[in-house]
Amino acid sequence: MNQVQLPFSTVITAEELKGFTHYEERKLSDMKGYFADEEARAAMEQSADQVVYQVYRVEVPPEEGELLHCLTVIQPGQVAGECFMTKGHYHLNEKCAEIYVGVKGKGVLLMQKGQEVRTIEMRENTAAYIPAGWGHRTINVSADQPFVFFSVWPGHSGYDYQRAVEEPFVKRVYLRPDGYEVK
Ligand SMILES: [Fe+2]
Repeated sequence: MNQVQLPFSTVITAEELKGFTHYEERKLSDMKGYFADEEARAAMEQSADQVVYQVYRVEVPPEEGELLHCLTVIQPGQVAGECFMTKGHYHLNEKCAEIYVGVKGKGVLLMQKGQEVRTIEMRENTAAYIPAGWGHRTINVSADQPFVFFSVWPGHSGYDYQRAVEEPFVKRVYLRPDGYEVK
């Protein structure tokens, strides 16, 4: 029998989702193979296994009709110039879109469908739409500030992280003295 979801609320802040029930973090040691320069990542992990990003989530049934949501905080940092980012994923259900809303900082939303790549620069209050079928990853392009965003997606989306490994994102984002470069 399906669990009955009752009304509830949380509070979005620039640091966390107040009222969250689930917390996950990804450190450099969880990001093996994701950055272009794996040797540099491994060396950084050896000296300090920094947190790359944190996810604050509320438990909602992962079922059609429900809306999952979370707050993600990507820390500032780079691996050989490549900006800290999320692992990125596709939805297992290719009919499920997603919405991201920028909360704080400066980021890039990188999307890919086949060989087609799109980027959207995200700031506070930017609402970005990720159409169904597009892989998506977010990148912190600030040198010293966290990038924080809120996400909402259908309960029956599922996540395919393996596909993002087998069909890696063809563009990467690097910090530059005057901003950032997507290449
Ligand atoms: Fe997603």
